[in-house]
Amino acid sequence: MDFNENNATEAVLNSFSKIKDKRLKQIMNSIITHLHQVVKEVEPTEEEWMKAIMFLTKTGQKCDDRRQEFILLSDVLGISMLLDAINNRKSKDETETTVLGPFHAPSPRISNGENIAKSVVGENCIVSGNVLDVNKNSVPGASIEVWQSGPDGLYDVQKEGDVVDLRATLSSLEDGSYLFRTVKPQYYPIPVDGPVGDLLKKLDRHPYRPAHIHFMVKAEGFKDLVTHVFIDGDKYLESDTVFAVKNSLIRQLEEGFDDDNNQKCYHLNFDIVMEKI
Ligand code: BEZ
Ligand code: FE
Repeated sequence: MDFNENNATEAVLNSFSKIKDKRLKQIMNSIITHLHQVVKEVEPTEEEWMKAIMFLTKTGQKCDDRRQEFILLSDVLGISMLLDAINNRKSKDETETTVLGPFHAPSPRISNGENIAKSVVGENCIVSGNVLDVNKNSVPGASIEVWQSGPDGLYDVQKEGDVVDLRATLSSLEDGSYLFRTVKPQYYPIPVDGPVGDLLKKLDRHPYRPAHIHFMVKAEGFKDLVTHVFIDGDKYLESDTVFAVKNSLIRQLEEGFDDDNNQKCYHLNFDIVMEKI
């Protein structure tokens, strides 16, 4: 029988009958069922389909060692955070996870108290807290990687040259505490000089993420934690372009003083509760 609108889906699903890998078969069945449904519902013209193909082609062409446009696409369409929700269902009071983002990179080891802002200038900020388990026992020796953008909204890896700034790895102390100095984070746009930026414009969406600091925390016997701390009051908290804000991750930036450096300074407190493996 000819391949037609009525038997198209069945014909393709039948072609998968020899797939041995059960998971692959489930995934392919689902993708084809839904994709065919979209085409039947939307009835794209051939010109529109070619536009879609060209969009994906440009998305691929924008990827290189430093740029992953497909992940950005997954981020702005809420797929990254849907995946996060499905894979990190919380049963207790562990710190919630959120998106990794494209700007994670190797960082220098520092001691507690050091400043991670090497050449970037901004409003001084002390970030501190405790790494704990769900029973509030301290977790010493946890590896805490942090990274953030500067007041210009850029991460070091977005700038020319190999300068490493506003990122570091430190360890929690014997009592589980940690502390580092930095500059106040600022809201910023995700990279918009590619097809994902064009898409956001077409969809009449802004490209901004509310101010945050990234954390990747690892400790023996616990699940690796990828998260952010967000700053209360940021104007983009309600409309993060990658849907990554969770209420439990928002903290108040308190005005204060840095006694060691005798200067005005914000304080940001962020306790981290790790989930046992
Ligand atoms: C980030 O927070 O670094 C980020 C996350 C998702 C997309 C772009 C940037
Ligand atoms: Fe970020």
